Amino acid sequence: MIRSCFQAIIPDIGEFLPHHHFWTEAAFAEERARVFGHCWLYMGVFDATSALSADMAGLRFEILRQGETLRGICRDGDRVHPLEVDRCGALVFARVAREGGPTLAQHLHPYTERLAAMSANCVNPEPPVGIPFQANWKALIENTMDDFHGSTVHPQTIHPAVHPDWQTHLTTERHGANSDSRWRLADGTADWWTKLDAKLKMAKFAEEPFYRHTFIFPNFYLASFYGAVVIPHRVDPVAPDASVLRWQLFLPTTRLETARDRAFHRSTASYLIASAADVIDEDRPVCEAVQQGRPGILGNGVYGRRERRILDFHQAMLRQLAATA
Ligand SMILES: [Fe+2]
Repeated sequence: MIRSCFQAIIPDIGEFLPHHHFWTEAAFAEERARVFGHCWLYMGVFDATSALSADMAGLRFEILRQGETLRGICRDGDRVHPLEVDRCGALVFARVAREGGPTLAQHLHPYTERLAAMSANCVNPEPPVGIPFQANWKALIENTMDDFHGSTVHPQTIHPAVHPDWQTHLTTERHGANSDSRWRLADGTADWWTKLDAKLKMAKFAEEPFYRHTFIFPNFYLASFYGAVVIPHRVDPVAPDASVLRWQLFLPTTRLETARDRAFHRSTASYLIASAADVIDEDRPVCEAVQQGRPGILGNGVYGRRERRILDFHQAMLRQLAATA
């Protein structure tokens, strides 16, 4: 009754994923088969490397590059499935090959062009990072899409870096399974990036003083700062209560000629990686505490207008599970 009243007020309130999807082996197996065995998944950046690999929910993805051609397989226990591999700019995606289903461009809609433009900044790669979380992969996705945990979880890191007037300077876009959030940098932070840019002459995919992250269902998001630095992230499921957050920082500079240029770029990248790691160190215990407490949940939360993309993610999961049933 209460729910139907809500639905009268908010017609598209929709359904949540059942709570057991956050801790049971049965749900993990279902997601492995119907989500990770079906969807387009981010594999890595197309570069000089001849091979990419990924492990998600017990599936092993292996991609080899031969010239401009990418081919791959998915190992599922003893079974081997061919992969369909495609690119969006420098970003490589793959899915278990099958008839029908969306093209990669359809899967990335409406962010195909923007992601391709952002991916031009995937140069000057820093070493990939993988951080284990003792939490279900979806807890990390929910955490990422919650724009409002900055003041409580990151009071000294992210929170002061973005503009305090979020009602004006936080923009959230929702497009079904995919979404985008951009938050204007605080004035002091924007000044810091401007000074950095004067020294590094960064390549920019756009003139935008934002912290942006673009989420692509089911487990990829591309974060960016100042229209320059890009950080692809992927959340790899390991077990019902375990996952690995994988990310890689790219600080694209057009100034690397001298030893001094290279030293400055290296020290700046190290600083940014350490800062990103500090932020994740703040998120990890929260996600793990949520994982611990989730089986005791009494009901669903109420989501504000700016938080609806978390519910969008639940509904995309439900659609994906139903479509492949
Ligand atoms: Fe966070």
